[in-house]
Amino acid sequence: MAEQILILDFGSQYTQLIARRVRELNVYCEIHPFNKIPEITPDIKGIILSGSPCSVRDEGSPDLDLDQFRGKLPILGVCYGSQLMAQKYGGEVLPSEIREYGRANLTHLDTHYDLLKEMTHGTQVWMSHGDTIRELPEGFKVIASTPSVRVAAFKIEGEDTYGIQFHPEVTHSTEGKNLLRNFVVQICDCSQDWTSDVFIDASIAELKEKIGNDKVVMGLSGGVDSSVAATLIHRAIGNNLTCVFVDNGLLRKNEYQEVLDSYQHLGLNVIGVDAKKRFYDALAGISDPEAKRKAIGRVFIEVFDDESHKIPGVKWLGQGTIYPDVIESVSVNGPSATIKSHHNVGGLPDFMKLQVVEPLNTLFKDGVREVGRALEIPESIVGRHPFPGPGLAIRILGDITPEKVHTLQEVDHIFIQGLKESGLYDEVWQAGAILLPIQSVGVMGDERTYERVVALRAVGSVDGMTADWIHLPYEFLGKISNEIINRVKGVNRVVYDISSKPPATIEWE
Ligand code: XMP
Repeated sequence: MAEQILILDFGSQYTQLIARRVRELNVYCEIHPFNKIPEITPDIKGIILSGSPCSVRDEGSPDLDLDQFRGKLPILGVCYGSQLMAQKYGGEVLPSEIREYGRANLTHLDTHYDLLKEMTHGTQVWMSHGDTIRELPEGFKVIASTPSVRVAAFKIEGEDTYGIQFHPEVTHSTEGKNLLRNFVVQICDCSQDWTSDVFIDASIAELKEKIGNDKVVMGLSGGVDSSVAATLIHRAIGNNLTCVFVDNGLLRKNEYQEVLDSYQHLGLNVIGVDAKKRFYDALAGISDPEAKRKAIGRVFIEVFDDESHKIPGVKWLGQGTIYPDVIESVSVNGPSATIKSHHNVGGLPDFMKLQVVEPLNTLFKDGVREVGRALEIPESIVGRHPFPGPGLAIRILGDITPEKVHTLQEVDHIFIQGLKESGLYDEVWQAGAILLPIQSVGVMGDERTYERVVALRAVGSVDGMTADWIHLPYEFLGKISNEIINRVKGVNRVVYDISSKPPATIEWE
């Protein structure tokens, strides 16, 4: 088992970011809720206590027995984690006079301590807290301060236990990564040998052991996660893996053929299924977005079930599930709200009764991309923007017809190709075009036209939970708008969506 850092989550929005930063240091880590601590095995080299939206002063706020680790393993408390330690051992935590949020500078910084080694005097850090540590317990020593926060960092004397009031995991803490490196490498003594190649070798060995000579079926979407998962399984068991790639008629222009070709180049054993008509028939006349999603989900299950029946003796279902989907997020309302239940419902399609294998369920998206690159999966798949499962169906507002799909595919193609050709594609997290259910007046030559309106959307995001619209250059937008109106029959107006999420969402429906 690889060395690891255990991150105990008190519900902060930044907990996953801490984990990603630790992994960027080539150190494996896992997030567990503060109230479901796993067994402390020898491979755990240190513990990070996360922040929280709660206050340690609130009754019933998240708590844990720190004595079980103190002095035995290095501990780093971040924000709430540090306040919890201070309060538990006799210090005083009070509401800040002003809510401290945003940039601050460590004007006092004692770099003799391992945690702060090689950090610069005055370095910028990111604060986000409503409470402040007014008094430290005995034996706790202040090792960094800002002009307004005296206890910005502390150490418990004689132990590798530290607390910091700021967030080293966000990029606004300019030397935050340095601090985390000091903690995991200097203090926890991790050897930084957790790389994509190590992951790949371990994962292939584990898959071989688990699956043996059994057969696996897996649905591919053209996206990064399912493609990387399938490639790993294929490396482990070869053609005992059968992949199914369904053309639901809602993919981007030429996407079905291009992705199928890439899969074949990767040596995957893929069955391509043209099910366009089944999807269009099921969607006919449906305008409600949730009803569209349900219809698409149902037909996909039918098609996939048909295909999996053609594989005699198949026992496993491969899935591209990634770590954020499996981390149990801590509910700030208390542990009971987070309990999940699994029911084995009768009447499921046969493929859903298969055992599930999910080789990427410990990786974040950036880790999946790195593994994909190490597996030499083409950049056109690894660097691809996310694309929703229901595809263009939720970007055509109103009912779906093959003609509308065709129009939107042409518009989307011009936009996406334009982003690629101008070098903007990789600066955007997700982009696409939306076909609006209205027409607008225009003139073409001497004629008055009454045609469709399309919206373009390009957002920056980390995980899709929040997103900002991207300030694409006016020249680029002007050029793309011209191309769309000149080349796509039936469209005479282009608008650009300048809404952020929240309060808007990325998709329009
Ligand atoms: P929203 O619109 O909720 O989208 O801001 C966040 C992310 O989720 C994707 N999305 C979906 N993905 N099935 C999917 O597989 C869906 O029904 C669906 N709806 C939204 C969206 O493209 C964005 O990446």
